[in-house]
Amino acid sequence: MRQPPSEETTDRLRVRNLLGAQAGESLAVDVRRGLTAEPKRLFPKYFYDALGSQLFDAICLLPEYYLTRAENEIFASHAREIVEAAAAAGSKVTLFELGSGSATKTRLIVEALLERQSSLLYVPVDISTEALEQGSLALLQSFLPLRVEAFASDYNSAIPRLAEHFEEGSRAFVLFLGSNIGNFDPAGARDLLLSLRRVLRAGDALLVGADLKKEPAALDAAYDDPLGVTAAFNLNLLGRINRELGGDFDLRAFRHVGRYDEREGRVEMYVESRRAQTVRIAALDLEVNFAEGERVHTEYSHKYDLEELSGLAARTGFRLARTWFDEGRRFSSNLLVAEDK
Ligand code: TRP
Repeated sequence: MRQPPSEETTDRLRVRNLLGAQAGESLAVDVRRGLTAEPKRLFPKYFYDALGSQLFDAICLLPEYYLTRAENEIFASHAREIVEAAAAAGSKVTLFELGSGSATKTRLIVEALLERQSSLLYVPVDISTEALEQGSLALLQSFLPLRVEAFASDYNSAIPRLAEHFEEGSRAFVLFLGSNIGNFDPAGARDLLLSLRRVLRAGDALLVGADLKKEPAALDAAYDDPLGVTAAFNLNLLGRINRELGGDFDLRAFRHVGRYDEREGRVEMYVESRRAQTVRIAALDLEVNFAEGERVHTEYSHKYDLEELSGLAARTGFRLARTWFDEGRRFSSNLLVAEDK
């Protein structure tokens, strides 16, 4: 069992909620838009309610989902080098993270930073308030010299506000881990890095995790595991619409599809209707018809090669300073340094 946080711990934590009153509203707006579009789609940011965040943590423990273990392996072997490179010239670092989730991998980076500086400010951003609080409290309990200023927010609202926590004489070091960047299409990834570059100062650093192109079978297994955890994670999106918008999706009447398209270089995720059916969503006063076999797109997970990564950096005002790999070369951690504007 997790220990209840002491006052001393919560004193070092502040959570700002940028989701505000519009959170439910934007889910409603996006679900209406997505399910009346042709073809139908739903946005991946809505995967991460409290249950979805925990299901994602379970995905990270699956033997088939190598990504988390590979990235952890990189940090276990190279965290010191990584923070050394990010801190260039020995300056102090303020740590930021987009999509921190349970912040398990972040631990190794925090540890390495606290070997070279006596205190650390950590600014995590996550769309799941529950994951954000639990992840932050767990870190605060382990690391006394840590202070956390968290944003419960999507990326777009939080990025312009990161600068509020820049410290005089400190470098900003932004973590963007896992397969986060992969969930954006190439134009979206470019826009996201451009908006980060706009707030960062020259010399600030960004660590981007990127899953690498590889044989399709390994990717198919990673995104469609035999235990059905990934299926549960994907279908929870429909469950969330039931819970929060009064939908009547029968989750058993849909199935998870996750398959690597080698030509596109991405895993494509859908929920597929097993039969012709009509679903009602009370809060939207909406009826949605599904044909047998009709798919709702939920997420792409783009896979990268090194050329694409250095191209992406160069086009967005960064320099790809260094890349680390796991032993099996399945995954990469890429240090991007903001160039002069
Ligand atoms: N960001 C994760 C990834 O691309 C999310 C993810 C893993 C996911 N498995 C999934 C999203 C299945 C939808 C369905 O690796």
